[in-house]
Amino acid sequence: MYKAAIITSSDKGYAGEREDLSGPVVEEIVLAHGFEVTERIILPDERDILAEKMREYSQQGVDLILTTGGTGFSKRDITPEATADVVERRADNLTFAMIANSLKYTPKAMLSRGIAGICGDTLIVNLPGSPKAVRENLEYAIDAIMHGIKILKGDDGECAEPIHH
Ligand code: MTE
Repeated sequence: MYKAAIITSSDKGYAGEREDLSGPVVEEIVLAHGFEVTERIILPDERDILAEKMREYSQQGVDLILTTGGTGFSKRDITPEATADVVERRADNLTFAMIANSLKYTPKAMLSRGIAGICGDTLIVNLPGSPKAVRENLEYAIDAIMHGIKILKGDDGECAEPIHH
């Protein structure tokens, strides 16, 4: 069973001024796809705090870190920069695919600055902040994310389907 950690990046959520509705949506979707959720935390929009927690989860052996929030244009939105501080290999096409799909729902999807990438044996994916956006992005990408993790971990080296004659 793969381990997932969920980070909600929100000053208001961290201060208890706003209920975190997005973290639970991330959790519901990854649980439905067979992940074990080992960590779920709400953090303020602080670059160093976010990056440090991502590093910590990666070192703990978490396979997938999903962040929600802090990807937009607000002055405090800093999740992509924190993620870029941590990842060693970018997986930009994962994000491009999610955004391309999201444009079906809203042109505002292009305003998400989220990134994805690999830190050690951990895949990190930024998701936007709203529960609706989380669902639209993650349900679209989760099967590919799972396949990527299998390849990253060496559990499934083959992308090709077996050929049946
Ligand atoms: N993606 C999908 N699929 N659906 C949405 O409703 N909202 C967008 C976008 N991505 C949205 C979406 C909006 S309005 C913004 S401003 C950006 O994500 C950034 O979101 P964030 O600041 O909450 O991270």
